[in-house]
Amino acid sequence: MAVWNGDIFAIRLVFVLCCICLLARDVTAKCDLSNCIEPRCLCPSNVPPGQLQPPQVPQVVYFTFLGTMDESKYKHIEDIFSEDLKNPNYCPVAATFFIGDFDTVASPVRKTNYTYVKKLYEMGHEVATTGTNIQYPVTWWHRAASADYVNEVVFQKIRIATDAEINGDDIQGFRVPFLNNGGDAQFGMLHDYNFTYDSSLVNGPYTLRDYQATSHSPLYPFTLDVPPDKKLCDITPVNCPSQSYPGLWEIPLNRIYGNDGQACVAASDCNVRDTSDVFNFLVNNFNRNYRSNRAPLGIYLQIDWFKEKPFTLEGVKRFIRHVASKRDAWVITVSQLIDWMKSPMSPSRAITFGAWRNSKLPCSRPQTYNSPNTNYVDHMGHRSSAIFITKNSLLMATSFFLALGSQFFIAP
Ligand SMILES: *[C@@H]1O[C@H](CO)[C@@H](O)[C@H](O)[C@H]1NC(C)=O
Ligand SMILES: *[C@@H]1O[C@H](CO)[C@@H](O)[C@H](O)[C@H]1NC(C)=O
Repeated sequence: MAVWNGDIFAIRLVFVLCCICLLARDVTAKCDLSNCIEPRCLCPSNVPPGQLQPPQVPQVVYFTFLGTMDESKYKHIEDIFSEDLKNPNYCPVAATFFIGDFDTVASPVRKTNYTYVKKLYEMGHEVATTGTNIQYPVTWWHRAASADYVNEVVFQKIRIATDAEINGDDIQGFRVPFLNNGGDAQFGMLHDYNFTYDSSLVNGPYTLRDYQATSHSPLYPFTLDVPPDKKLCDITPVNCPSQSYPGLWEIPLNRIYGNDGQACVAASDCNVRDTSDVFNFLVNNFNRNYRSNRAPLGIYLQIDWFKEKPFTLEGVKRFIRHVASKRDAWVITVSQLIDWMKSPMSPSRAITFGAWRNSKLPCSRPQTYNSPNTNYVDHMGHRSSAIFITKNSLLMATSFFLALGSQFFIAP
């Protein structure tokens, strides 16, 4: 009889525990603003951080590349991110590279020449890591265990630091090959080994029509204190992290749209026929963010695109010149984006933001510009700090009178 009662008790206990578990799960399934306090913790959101309004947000464009690096790839990068292309603070534009070593596990030859990784770093680009091997089949990453992730990623980080002579602390980010997320094995490794960010989770509607029909707006970066909703890991096979990784940043891949209205995750997967196609679709994606919530625009490119479709190179260059000609748009690295997320500020204050000035190259106004595009010099000429002071004073004066006006009208 006592045994019987004990069994009932055990069953009840299990039942109660299950309820508590489910309840706890339910609570953690939602990112709660009362528990997640900026800037250490940020819920996934399409609203700018720091209570900024979209017009007060500098439009960030960040280019990312994943894979191996060699001389021919480096030449393309050097060509695209010309030293003459400057951000509004006159520091050179920069991109982020997730560097691997072998094309496949079967390939016996290392494909990355770290001389060029070092050159990227010295040009002010951010060097981050992916797996040592761009392992096939693509689902390998989806199924990989924690130890596999440590072998592939932590050792690759050490290899980059050693062979490219980069301070290990500067290698802060990871993207999984083929965006085939490995759930908690992947995110647990990143958290345990003190990575600052992951950038592997995909989200967004599949067509521009759905984007517009649902009044979708792109996401800002967020932290993984609370496991993200499944729709933020929208790539098959789905493998969302299910645990909490406090302070680990996620730089989400918001889908972008080609001229045909179809989504792509890597910009190099969108359909393009010629140079102006490339320029137009990138500008359209830029404008979509710029004219809505100003969420950072990520442009993920395969460097092989430039080899397979040589006309794309000029399209991308034209696009970067277009962005660099704007006073409130920036082409920066992922780490610099995170620095801003932690300390959000307006375009005019961003001019003197330390984290956006930490370029390895001098931040000075270009003296000479020997490109056929003379328009660009004109744009640069307009970028004097005097304009910002005038614009700021104007803004302050306007808000002063607005405040005065509203007081007047509110007063009984
Ligand atoms: C890497 O590139 C440098 C510079 O071109 C060259 O001297 C070196 O031999 C290359 N290393 C390997 C392993 O191919
Ligand atoms: C991560 O950082 C913590 C706290 O700074 C430190 O105690 C720990 O050793 C670090 N872990 C690794 C793997 O570097």
